[in-house]
Amino acid sequence: MELQDRPQAGAGAAAGSPDGAAVALAGVDITFHLADGGRYQAVKGIDLSVSPGEFVSIVGPTGCGKSTLLNAAAGLLAPSAGRVGIFGKPLVGLNRRAGYLFQQDALMPWKTALDNVKVALEPMGVPEREAAQRAREWLARVGLSAFVDRYPHMLSGGQRKRVSLAQMLIRNPEIILMDEPFGPLDAQTRQIMGNLLLDLWSRDRKALMFVTHDLEEAIALSDRVVVMSAGPAAGIVADYRVALPRPRDIADIRLEKAFHEIHRDIWSSLRVEVQKAYAMGEGRELVGGDAP
Ligand SMILES: Nc1ncnc2c1ncn2[C@@H]1O[C@H](COP(=O)(O)OP(=O)(O)OP(=O)(O)O)[C@@H](O)[C@H]1O
Ligand SMILES: [Mg+2]
Repeated sequence: MELQDRPQAGAGAAAGSPDGAAVALAGVDITFHLADGGRYQAVKGIDLSVSPGEFVSIVGPTGCGKSTLLNAAAGLLAPSAGRVGIFGKPLVGLNRRAGYLFQQDALMPWKTALDNVKVALEPMGVPEREAAQRAREWLARVGLSAFVDRYPHMLSGGQRKRVSLAQMLIRNPEIILMDEPFGPLDAQTRQIMGNLLLDLWSRDRKALMFVTHDLEEAIALSDRVVVMSAGPAAGIVADYRVALPRPRDIADIRLEKAFHEIHRDIWSSLRVEVQKAYAMGEGRELVGGDAP
């Protein structure tokens, strides 16, 4: 589907031509080859651009291909058709200009918080003392000055996410990819983490692609919310601009009338896809070999 066919083109879609985009997926199809020789087409015809400085959330039913799109932007998956452009250049191999925060904890249990953050600088050849200093600064920024010597099992889920954030951001990636990063956290901690993320992001606004199941979270954080259809061969069915003022407090903003209006609009697109996915249920796995 062409971008202009969508119900509402986002700011980034309009402002960020693929040439100027931090990430530009153009006509991207991704098909997986299954162990039994069959194939499963997860996504089809994806056109999605994220401008430098833009915060874009991706929502859609479970299994529709949200992580698959992030993996394509990260260079972990090569599209079967179409192109992935990063700052105007075709992506070949891993996207070294991106930092990726996975849903699962990826901290090393045998290393302290400080060492977990410091290790991110190793491939860049940063001298030990400087790396330790920068890791301390980042742990302070995420509110963990008092926890630098703790091992991951001595930290709460929210604290571990803070360490992971510091570990990703210390490398100063130009593009940030986040896959349901706050999924396992309770609602209150999610809000605290959301505000922390907005605070960090607003200092030097990187291009950010954020996958979440939580539509309220998506709206509260983002400049645009992109809705994916149910799979197989999922596409983008809607692209909404969130014209709410910044800076935002993600708890307070949910009380505003404009928030409810945009929530109603996006949910009208999303619910159709969620219901389709639900109706297909287990059957979706059975048609896996034959995407339309
Ligand atoms: N390596 C793979 N081989 C075969 N199929 C895969 C592979 N990776 C993903 N899929 C399938 O592709 C589809 C999209 O998967 P993906 O993980 O991107 O979904 P998602 O939207 O992130 O779901 P969730 O919201 O549950 O995390 C799913 O049906 C999944 O089973
Ligand atoms: Mg996923």
